[in-house]
Amino acid sequence: MSSDDQVSQQLQQTIDRYRERYDSKPTWAAVAPGRVNLIGEHTDYNDGFVMPMAITRQTIIVAGPSSEPSRILIASSSQDDTAVFDLNSPLTPGDPAWANYVKGVIAGCIEHGLSPQGFKGMIDTTVPLGGGLSSSASLEVATATLVEAITEKSLDGVTKALICQKAEHTFANTPCGIMDQFISTMGQADHAMLLDCRSHETQMVPMTDPSIAVLIINSNVKHNLSGGEYAQRRSQCETASRVLGVKALRDATLEQLNANKAKMDDVTFRRARHVIGENDRTVTAAQAARENNWQRFGELMYDSHRSLQHDFEVSCEELDLLVELAGKIGLAGGVYGSRMTGGGFGGCTVSIVRADKAQQIQDAITTAYKAKTGIDPIAFVTQAAQGARILSI
Ligand code: GLA
Repeated sequence: MSSDDQVSQQLQQTIDRYRERYDSKPTWAAVAPGRVNLIGEHTDYNDGFVMPMAITRQTIIVAGPSSEPSRILIASSSQDDTAVFDLNSPLTPGDPAWANYVKGVIAGCIEHGLSPQGFKGMIDTTVPLGGGLSSSASLEVATATLVEAITEKSLDGVTKALICQKAEHTFANTPCGIMDQFISTMGQADHAMLLDCRSHETQMVPMTDPSIAVLIINSNVKHNLSGGEYAQRRSQCETASRVLGVKALRDATLEQLNANKAKMDDVTFRRARHVIGENDRTVTAAQAARENNWQRFGELMYDSHRSLQHDFEVSCEELDLLVELAGKIGLAGGVYGSRMTGGGFGGCTVSIVRADKAQQIQDAITTAYKAKTGIDPIAFVTQAAQGARILSI
């Protein structure tokens, strides 16, 4: 099914759920995709480079006016409870926790002069939750896009991404970088995005070579980035840049790091070595992708994974196993490269594979993974999808 057909089908199902829940027809609808990061991990909050693409899994929200102009009512097909907020009081984080993403974005939109009237909404997502594919960013960006539809005002892409990032920081307690919200807002069909997280400059990299496929495998080990590990990595990177006397690790070189090795502990040194190496790998990988040099791209993916595993220590046994299984199939079997994607501690791997062998590779990896771990992984091939937009209903 084409990406547009998938969205239309999911939209129809969400409208049906809305009708069942509220006994009326919705007026507005918005969609925002999840993302997979091809390379450039834990570099975004170091002012570095990332190379994500939006995927053909998305969050859709449909909404209609509420009978009370200051009341927002939100239900979701994946949650049992309904969230209710009152626009006459300041919006603050609370229960249910899943609705904090929505609330935080609405608070940010109001700060930027987009004040929606009360509405009732229904959320539906095909992005696996807590799988490292930015289910939360897709919910945030879908919310901001819905607010644009309701208020008939639009936000520029960077402001919209920043509002969503702030919601994640202040309402969901995760000090994330800008990558996820940026690509969900500004992704383009058939392209990955090389994003400079300092200047916010983007370069679109075509992902149209018909000989390759992007394969995602969910280890089905759940991650939770609001646990302390993510924040800890961020502060270790800040410590390293302070010791090196640079604004962010983006500004440091490996030579500089090696010259200052004695001034920091081993953990800080390895965290910095990952980030500095990963920035270089990402820029090199974008060039390799432009040249359709997937063998080179794949080598950089394996290097990235090893660095995340040993230096940044955000992988886990299950992700390592998935990458190892892909590596064993190797070039001869049609695998160019594989790595963990997203924040880590579970979630998904991404692999670049030969399109004509994708199904075979997927079957081989998932079968071996299940045999070894007892966990059923979920695998799918994705196209590079379009970013968020208002849908007409
Ligand atoms: C999470 C964060 C991103 C980024 C990645 C790691 O997905 O939300 O901002 O830091 O982890 O690359």
